[in-house]
Amino acid sequence: MTAAHNDQSVVHRAVPGPLSQHYLDRQEIQESNARTYPRRLPIAVRRASGSRLEDVDGNVYIDFLSGAGALILGHNHPELVDAVRRQLDDFVHGLDLPTPIKAEFTNRQLGMLPEAMRDRMKLHFCGPTGANGVEAAIKLAKIHTGRPGIISFQGAFHGSTTGALALTGDLENKRDVPDLMPGVQFFPYSYCARCPLGLRPDTCSTNCVTYLERTLADSHSGMPKPAAMILELVQGEGGTIPATREFARRIWKLCRKHDIVLIVDEVQTGCGRTGTWFAFEQYDIEPDVIIASKGLSGIGLPVALLLYDRRLDGWRPGAHIGTFRGNQLAFASGVAALDVIERERVLENVAQQGKLLSERLFELAKFTPWIADVRGVGLMWGVELVNPETGQSATKLARAVQAAALRNGLILEVGGRDDCVLRMLPPLNIDAHTMNEAMDALAEAFVTATEGLNPERKG
Ligand SMILES: Cc1ncc(COP(=O)(O)O)c(C=O)c1O
Repeated sequence: MTAAHNDQSVVHRAVPGPLSQHYLDRQEIQESNARTYPRRLPIAVRRASGSRLEDVDGNVYIDFLSGAGALILGHNHPELVDAVRRQLDDFVHGLDLPTPIKAEFTNRQLGMLPEAMRDRMKLHFCGPTGANGVEAAIKLAKIHTGRPGIISFQGAFHGSTTGALALTGDLENKRDVPDLMPGVQFFPYSYCARCPLGLRPDTCSTNCVTYLERTLADSHSGMPKPAAMILELVQGEGGTIPATREFARRIWKLCRKHDIVLIVDEVQTGCGRTGTWFAFEQYDIEPDVIIASKGLSGIGLPVALLLYDRRLDGWRPGAHIGTFRGNQLAFASGVAALDVIERERVLENVAQQGKLLSERLFELAKFTPWIADVRGVGLMWGVELVNPETGQSATKLARAVQAAALRNGLILEVGGRDDCVLRMLPPLNIDAHTMNEAMDALAEAFVTATEGLNPERKG
């Protein structure tokens, strides 16, 4: 039985099964202590197809992690695999030399921008990770403005390189690394479930952004005007937190007013994840720089790029280079992915399946007092778990639900403050049957996990 031919998620054996355990044990000896996913998703993978993934013990799971959001059309989409195979025979590694497939990919990417932006945007291919795109965007903004500072937002995640990490909120990962990039200031994000200013939603007038507005206008704020602000329109790793419309629009206007470059990090929200090609389209804003990566190839082949306003194009030849900027296989599968997305109206599917997913999550929240917030856009959803008695993050419960879901055949991510948010990033072409199956597995996991916590009711 293969994942490709099996439309049921079946866990036959304990998780991890004996073969998975064998690979996990070897990995522990041979690989770095910094490894992450196998610690909470203890499986070794044999193969995958579409929404399903099969471990080496024959257990089949629905995959709502989707390669950390990269697999927008699920695993190994056959049309994308064919496109890669054909490209393999022609040309693979192209630095930044032009090629026909790269030209087509570039055209198609620029064509995904809102019409009003198309002619004034240019594209830069970066080293093939989101973090490398972030580094490039920072350099572009600093070179253009001649200013050193960058404003980031509390809860942000921008990657693991030292510049991107400096822009990241999570202190745990920064603590042990001295001398990250200087000049970064953090301001509050519109995280209404835990208002950074401690206000109740009914008294809120987006004071989080008012604080930033007033700081920039204050001649005694102590903060020189920065080169750029970098913003996720939905904070992903931070706990799936959509920016409020007013927050994002006021940030945009503020950047315009003070001639600050607005960089939107669409590494996770881009490529249709939120139901539009880019999330910023839903906010009626026009950023100066867009960083895109994860979903660009559609099949998980690495590629990252900046789309940016031509007026910023003052960097010198070679200002941001990298050996792996010309992955022709990624370009070929990226073009094929766009064909599938357009032909099969995948963005409409995101709206439909996102509605189903959110309805199922809100339904679950009615019966689960530990669910403090359900939030998301398109097919990027999070469920925040809080102990209803103490108001504390229910970290243990989140882990227990993740583990129980895995045993029920569903792969979920956990993130956010204190790791108390269950995160869901299904493929954008998922069908209703699979979505319902996944939600049944999640509901069952909640029953098992909450029973496990009683009677102490410790989160
Ligand atoms: C918003 C955002 N920016 C940047 C990154 C870093 O991307 P990469 O892991 O490819 O370096 C991520 C990764 O999850 C992300 O979610």
